[in-house]
Amino acid sequence: MAARQPLAFFTRILPEPAPSLLAEVFRLGGNLEDRSLTPAEIMEGVAGATALISTLTDPIGEEVMEAAGPQLRVISNFAVGYDNVDVRAATARKILVTTTPGVLTEATAELTWALILAAARRVVEGDALVRAGGFKGWAPSLLLGKELNGCVLGIVGMGRIGSAVARKAAGFGMRVLYTRRSGPLPEEAQPVGAGWSFAPDLHSLLAASDVVSLHVPLVAATRHLLGAKELAEMKPGSILVNAARGPVVDERALIEALRSGHLFAAGLDVYEHEPQLAPGLASLPNVVLLPHLGSGTIETRRNMAELTARNAIAVVAGLPIPHVVNPEAL
Ligand code: GLV
Repeated sequence: MAARQPLAFFTRILPEPAPSLLAEVFRLGGNLEDRSLTPAEIMEGVAGATALISTLTDPIGEEVMEAAGPQLRVISNFAVGYDNVDVRAATARKILVTTTPGVLTEATAELTWALILAAARRVVEGDALVRAGGFKGWAPSLLLGKELNGCVLGIVGMGRIGSAVARKAAGFGMRVLYTRRSGPLPEEAQPVGAGWSFAPDLHSLLAASDVVSLHVPLVAATRHLLGAKELAEMKPGSILVNAARGPVVDERALIEALRSGHLFAAGLDVYEHEPQLAPGLASLPNVVLLPHLGSGTIETRRNMAELTARNAIAVVAGLPIPHVVNPEAL
């Protein structure tokens, strides 16, 4: 009799080809619908899973791993970020944690630019005005924005996504300044003649940038990386964009900086207490608010789905794993 296939537990159904690829190796279980499970529902259903297929909104802590049981081999997260997973607890249990970097770089960089442009040129305010019947004709001072050409784009976190955002800056005539945990980028990692400048610390970047865009992961050291003090260090009239993780910014302090006019505008794709917004944020005119769409293109979500499946399959099949966060767990 054929051995029973191992169980892949979905916290939420993923786009194709994840279900069909995984079904070649696993029995599919868990939530095969497009709604999120509560932590209690995950705990109830996960017992017996060999692969846990999670999304960035599912907190996967030690208790979920415990509830799954000792056969759990892989937590395959459908995201590049993995702040929702307790990696230390996974490593201690020899559970591999995998993610989907690379395939979402350009989509996320494009969305970052959508936020930069929308915030600088008041695109959402303009759209609302027209829809509300408020457009009475061209006017010399109507909804004037900030010109980006010749300005400095400060990139906090020059990894894959930060670098992709920087590459697109040339097209808008912006100079690039960046911080990077491991020091200046090697020359060959920059486009020829790009002349990106390394900022030795966050403070010097904030003081010199007209637009600041965040591209760091959420870890203890980046929680509230931008609080009231750092926001005050930003240039008067500058713009903040966050398409990384909400808790990197103190959202209440940001509201103050936007309300006082110290910042010209902000563009946010993520929130400190997602999906809740801090009181007052949604009523500010000078902030563009998106519902965490960074990787949200048809092509990218498909590629993420494939990578999520291939990561999990590789673990059980003993193949090289495309993107593992904690190889030391092996
Ligand atoms: C999106 O936020 C991701 O981490 O993939």
